[in-house]
Amino acid sequence: MSVARTFTGPAGPFRATVVPPGDKSMSHRALILAGMASGASRLRGLGPGADIASTVWCLRQFGLDIAPAVRPETVVSPGVDGWRAVDTALDAANSGTTVRLLAGAVAARPVTTRFTGDPSLRQRPMRRLIAPLMALGAVVTVSRAGTLPITVTGGPLLGTTVWIPEASAQVRSAFALAAVQADGVSTLDSPPGFRDHTERWLQALGRGARRGDTTFEIHPGPLAPLDLTVPGDPSSAAFLWTAAALRTAEVTTPGVSLNPGRTGLLDVIATMGAGVEATVTGEVLGDPVGTVTVRGPVRTGTRVSGELTVRTLDELPLVGLLGCVAEGETVIADAAELRLKESDRIAGTVRLVSSLGGTVEATPDGFRVVASPLRPGAYYSGGDHRMAMAAATAATAAGTVTVVGMEAAAVSWPAFAETLELMWSSR
Ligand code: S3P
Repeated sequence: MSVARTFTGPAGPFRATVVPPGDKSMSHRALILAGMASGASRLRGLGPGADIASTVWCLRQFGLDIAPAVRPETVVSPGVDGWRAVDTALDAANSGTTVRLLAGAVAARPVTTRFTGDPSLRQRPMRRLIAPLMALGAVVTVSRAGTLPITVTGGPLLGTTVWIPEASAQVRSAFALAAVQADGVSTLDSPPGFRDHTERWLQALGRGARRGDTTFEIHPGPLAPLDLTVPGDPSSAAFLWTAAALRTAEVTTPGVSLNPGRTGLLDVIATMGAGVEATVTGEVLGDPVGTVTVRGPVRTGTRVSGELTVRTLDELPLVGLLGCVAEGETVIADAAELRLKESDRIAGTVRLVSSLGGTVEATPDGFRVVASPLRPGAYYSGGDHRMAMAAATAATAAGTVTVVGMEAAAVSWPAFAETLELMWSSR
């Protein structure tokens, strides 16, 4: 069922403090690392979205006790060696992180594990998992198209060294979660810009060491149970920061992850001339957490490329909106990966900006936006949570936007629409 919801942006300036939901990337990692450990873990503030429910569901199929049923906080596991074999294909629904990270977690199990997903996930690239996991000794198969269903047949793994050509945190994490179960030390390297939550957490747990900006060594051994609070999700806060940067407004988000692989949008907003303050207030397993304030509006267009593109990847559709209200031109380059997300987000951003009257064109590796007033309009999310939330956020500058397929937001932030509207009405 596709839900249409009409958003009417704020009448004037707004000022709000909003606590975003638990970080999706860190929630997956917390659940999987807790599940791999032997014993009881306590995880507070897990992300509320359907993607996290997918990881919880898969881990329960392996025999883990994750309680309570709704908004879980405890994981009790015999340790990854005691995970139950599952004969049927595990359905990760829309969650790429669930499939890719669990593919690594099961890679030392002497059984075959099969994963599938919803129609969107079944289009996404999985071939990239094969080389790193096979280098350790697991056997991975994908469909002829390089997609789901995939199978992972595990067994004893031997530590090795790999170069991963994509700056993909998911593929790096799959390798690391397998390598921690291998015989002997492993080393991984890839291009820069990725979110290094898994690496930082393994290091804090005594199972790894940084050997350079992108090089990380994994030291195999058992994992200890976790006791942590998941920080707020910067990729969710990003919609609120963007709303603040689209006009005269101020938004503060306490307790968000400030992992450098997550803060690209803040650098972009600052370069475009809005006020940005980010203060580190603490850390979780060596991963910085802090308070962010954004004061809009942005003033001038910018160019996003290279490592900054990787650090901003999930948030780039929002830069498309900011480019409309800034002077001059905004260009996104080196972002071909955006076509491989929950939907083709280059096409989705071009469709969003143009359906609201903005001037935009796709390029082979990104898009180009020229200053142009946003006007009321309608947009279909294509079932992509981030595109649905970006379209709702656009109402901050466009006035009224009807989003068809708004229910997709539940993948990461079920209460997004209500939170956005409450924020707009805060003075
Ligand atoms: C994620 C990594 C990124 C990101 C995705 C979540 C993760 O994907 O786009 O939303 O939690 O590791 P890639 O690993 O494909 O770059």
